[in-house]
Amino acid sequence: MQPLGKLRLGVNIDHVATVRNARGGAYPDPLRAAKLAEDFGADGITAHLREDRRHISDADIDGLARALTVPLNFEMAATAEMQAIALKHKPHAVCLVPEKREERTTEGGLEVAREENRLAHFIAPLRDAGCRVSIFIAADRKQIEAAARIGAQVIELHTGAYCDAHAEGRFEERDAELEALREMSAYAHSLGLEVHAGHGLTYDTVKPIAAFPEVMELNIGHFIIGEAIFRGLGPAIEEMRRLMDEAREG
Ligand code: PXP
Repeated sequence: MQPLGKLRLGVNIDHVATVRNARGGAYPDPLRAAKLAEDFGADGITAHLREDRRHISDADIDGLARALTVPLNFEMAATAEMQAIALKHKPHAVCLVPEKREERTTEGGLEVAREENRLAHFIAPLRDAGCRVSIFIAADRKQIEAAARIGAQVIELHTGAYCDAHAEGRFEERDAELEALREMSAYAHSLGLEVHAGHGLTYDTVKPIAAFPEVMELNIGHFIIGEAIFRGLGPAIEEMRRLMDEAREG
């Protein structure tokens, strides 16, 4: 199968806010990072407004919604508070993620199958407002089918387990995770869902995922912001873009 189109890179700027919040002031500004990411070829900006506001703040979302020229992918938990914020800003995309206060990062995918009714009602007004609704899920057939049934237009496959297995040298597991991601990308596409992927991706792990023809967008944050310390944000993004394009060309 030929790739379905150019692979988009969404740059997640949450961890610029993490560094800012370490000192409680206004520096470094995530909006400035987002504008720089735009200049260096990011196709979209992703930001996760967590319930505990540990990194991105409400004011960051206001600024991003006002100033970005590329699409904003607003990550949020499926709560009434976040729904109201999304409906105020009407971002290009809303990505629903599971959220636990005690976790360090988004650990798993959303349990769509168990909450199908509630989530179907939850996303309806977001869709009506013109947002593309994406659901962050594990590479699990049951969850993908539920996402399609509730009317999500997009799923984002959680690549965290694949990346962790690679980083820890568990290569058989890594390959099994990759295979599941490959199969589920194709399956989700066959159900009419647009397929995105992300979490934990690095220069070492991005290419096999970028090569899946059905995947249309990767959302990458922590590694790019970390790498920006060493080579600057622009070059860190450009190198990711280069690897994605290389993988896409085969
Ligand atoms: N996609 C989703 C849905 C996420 O929750 C995150 C983490 O906030 C990412 C992508 C980016 O993950 P990372 O920061 O590990 O690249």
